[in-house]
Amino acid sequence: MTSSALERDILTIALPKGRILKDAAGLFRAAGVDFSQIFQDKRKLISETLAEGLRFMIVRSQDVPTYVEYGAADLGIAGCDVLLEQDLDLYEPLDLQIGKCRMMIAEPAELAGVESPANWTHMKVASKYPNITTRYFQEKGVQVEIIKLYGSIELAPLLGLSDRIVDLVETGETLKKNGLVEVETMMEISSKLVCNRASLKMKPKRIKGLVERLARAVEQEG
Ligand code: PRP
Repeated sequence: MTSSALERDILTIALPKGRILKDAAGLFRAAGVDFSQIFQDKRKLISETLAEGLRFMIVRSQDVPTYVEYGAADLGIAGCDVLLEQDLDLYEPLDLQIGKCRMMIAEPAELAGVESPANWTHMKVASKYPNITTRYFQEKGVQVEIIKLYGSIELAPLLGLSDRIVDLVETGETLKKNGLVEVETMMEISSKLVCNRASLKMKPKRIKGLVERLARAVEQEG
């Protein structure tokens, strides 16, 4: 087999670093993929199971859609927060039901009850999600100044950088420990399998086969 023919048979999959990685690996295992040799060396960012023709790479969660859109990866796993924020043209064949949390607006506990959301007219909001936040408040007719941060968003109101935050909440512990309370849930979040549109045309059988195996794994795990 020529190397380009071999390349056509390999599916490259971008997995997100961080808390989703363990659940994502668990799903592939449940789908029958032998993960025993994958990412044994923690510093190696690309790893293959050649017997199955799968190549996995680990990237920052925000970079997964980029790798998939450019075709550097055929498939990827990304949270719908990241997908909505970046709004790229990707095929989304499957909700993997992992990485479940919610995106919400939170404020300092001492502000709670002082001003109801129905009376909001303008505010400063810190977030990793400027696009989603802008759209959300635009629809509500509230003027916002967005302070874009890359992490530890909960600090912003404590230090007077913003009035409120838009961020993900899973257990609620980080909010609680930093004296913040939830005001409004914007959306429920989970991670999705995303696919490059050209890959789907070039490798339809392999991709559909893997999507079916993963769909069964999601059902089983659920
Ligand atoms: C996420 C999120 C919250 C926290 C919520 O941050 O942005 O800060 O988790 O989790 P909890 O409700 O279970 O406390 P992450 O750990 O990804 O780090 P970051 O703040 O650097 O983005």
